[in-house]
Parts: sequence; structure tokens; C-alpha cells
Amino acid sequence: MAALLKNVALIGASGSVGKVLLKVFLDDGRFNVTILRRGSSSATFPSTVKVVDVDYDSLESLTAALAGQDAVVSTINPAIPIDTQKRFVDAAIAAGVKRFLPSEFGCDLNNELARTLPVFAPKIEVQNYLKEKAQTTPLTYTFAYSGPFLDWGLEHQFILKTVDSKPSLFDGGNTVFSTTNLSTVAEAVLAILSKPEETKNREVRFQSAAISQNGLLALAKEVAPQRDWQPEVVKVDDLVRVADERLAKGLFDHQTFAPYLFRAIHDPRYGPKFETLDNELLGLKQLTEAEIKGILKQYLKE
Ligand SMILES: NC(=O)c1ccc[n+]([C@@H]2O[C@H](COP(=O)([O-])OP(=O)(O)OC[C@H]3O[C@@H](n4cnc5c(N)ncnc54)[C@H](OP(=O)(O)O)[C@@H]3O)[C@@H](O)[C@H]2O)c1
Repeated sequence: MAALLKNVALIGASGSVGKVLLKVFLDDGRFNVTILRRGSSSATFPSTVKVVDVDYDSLESLTAALAGQDAVVSTINPAIPIDTQKRFVDAAIAAGVKRFLPSEFGCDLNNELARTLPVFAPKIEVQNYLKEKAQTTPLTYTFAYSGPFLDWGLEHQFILKTVDSKPSLFDGGNTVFSTTNLSTVAEAVLAILSKPEETKNREVRFQSAAISQNGLLALAKEVAPQRDWQPEVVKVDDLVRVADERLAKGLFDHQTFAPYLFRAIHDPRYGPKFETLDNELLGLKQLTEAEIKGILKQYLKE
């Protein structure tokens, strides 16, 4: 396999992860990037990037778009139909693509408990499909595990609710979890494509930091001591019980699935703090406490 997987197709380039990834690719300049845009998408991209409009329902359309590509990086919303995601893989095989990075970028799904959480079912199905195809075709895969995003997670009140200074501390907030800045996730993808042999048919784990909610809260208090911080302890079991009921009623929305993410991130049995890290392999630095405070500052302006 060549030293660098240079020709890269992006699927889902207009999303939260895709947008950042595209920018990092363009800034880097070593890769030839092609964006696959679904017919119904209204997304626009810089005029310097090659964009191919494709029909996600057509294997032929996808295969033609992937001709000459070395790698596919999917940052698609994993809730899209599983058949569509499998068709991306089939098209990659048909086009002779060497590497497929499915839309992971989150929890360590090699953890046996995490694998059983309903929210991850589509990701697991795609993983299994890729593993099967990697045994019978030349296509290879890499699963990129970053933990929850640090900057995005603060912005979206997902890893620490700061907006009203009343953070929900899941099960007390002491579980340490791996977390990665979104730009570092993008750098990890480029590093994977730069080291195809070392990252072939395996998962890679990386982090910007390992920290608990209480660790983040302590830094937030240093950054914004003027605030009246009133953390509230929330039991993950209670949230998951309600989520199970919603699931049984066929309610497949964020409200149903979020508690399973909280379980994966705040219950140590689910492997939220990565035991092994590929930061060194991928050339990714971790953040100092001062740098984490700098990030918190952006979201604690008042
Ligand atoms: N670790 C974390 O904290 C964290 C946070 C967020 C996301 N993630 C993960 O990162 C990956 C990407 O997530 P994201 O938030 O960037 O995704 P997203 O913004 O929700 O969606 C990505 C792209 O998917 C396409 N898309 C959305 N709905 C679709 C549909 N119904 N049919 C076809 N295409 C559709 C859209 O592109 P077009 O409309 O242009 O086609 C969209 O820009 C996921 O695996 C997610 O689990 C992790």
C-alpha cells in the first residue's frame, strides 16, 4: 500500500465533523479531496473542491463517483438508512478503493458493553459489514475512536451544561473519559490516511485529554469564579430507564438515544477512558490544563 492514501472521497462533508475535516484537508494540501454530495443536499462548498453529485440509492452512481479514489471517509449522520451505508462500502469495493473510514468518531465500540447500546446499533452493523468485506475483498478499514468532542461537547452543552451554571453531573461526575477537540479528530483522520499500513483493519484511539465532569467543572470555576455554580447530580440509570421505555414505544429520536450516550461516557464499565492510545502513532498532542481552560473560556463568556 502506498505511503499516503492521497485521493480521498468525503461523504457527509457538510456536517459538524465533515465541515471541520474538509477545512483541515484543504489547509493541509497533501490530499486530492472529492466530496460526494447527495442529490437532495443543499450544501455548498468552496469552489476549489471537487464536488460530485451522487444518488445514494444507486450503486452505479456511487461506484462511478469513487473511481480512482484511494480512501473513503464517511462523516455521515449514522442514523441514515443502514442499506445506504452498506452501499457506500459496496461501491468502495466495486471502485477498488483501498481504505474505508466509517462514521465513527466517538466511543470505543470495541468495549463489549458499549456495543450493546441501542444508539450504536447502526455503527456496529457497519463495522461488522466492513470486517466481513475486509476478509473477502482488498478493502481495508480503520475505526477512529475519539471519545466525545471537547469543544463541540462544551458548545452543545453535552459534556458539561454551563449555560445556566447548573451542570448535570452524571452519576456524580467522577468518571474520567477520553475527549478530543474536533480539529484533532480531523488531524487524526489525515494521520490515519498518512499511515495506512499501521492503521489497517483496526481501531485507533486518541484523545486531547482524559478528564471527568468534575475535573471540567473545577476548571470552569477557575475560569468563571463570578458564577453561582449549582451542579445537579443525575442518575444515568434513571435516564436509561426512560430511554428504554421510549425505545419500546418506537420513539427513535435524540431524547431516546442521548441517555445511552451518557451511559457510554459516564459509566466506567463502558470504557470511556481509553486504556491504550494511538496519539503517538498519529502525532497528536494532548492538551495542558491551561489549554483546556482556554477552551472553556470561549463558552463561559458571561
Ligand atoms: N464524539 C462526539 O462528541 C460526536 C459529536 C457529534 C457527532 N459525532 C459522530 O460524528 C459522525 C458525524 O456526525 P455529525 O454530527 O457530523 O453528522 P451530521 O452533521 O448530523 O450529518 C452529517 C451529514 O450527513 C448528511 N445527512 C444528514 N441526514 C441525512 C439523511 N437523512 N440522509 C442522508 N444524509 C444525511 C448531511 O449531509 P448532506 O445534507 O450534505 O447530504 C450531513 O451534513 C457521526 O458518526 C457521529 O456519531 C460524534
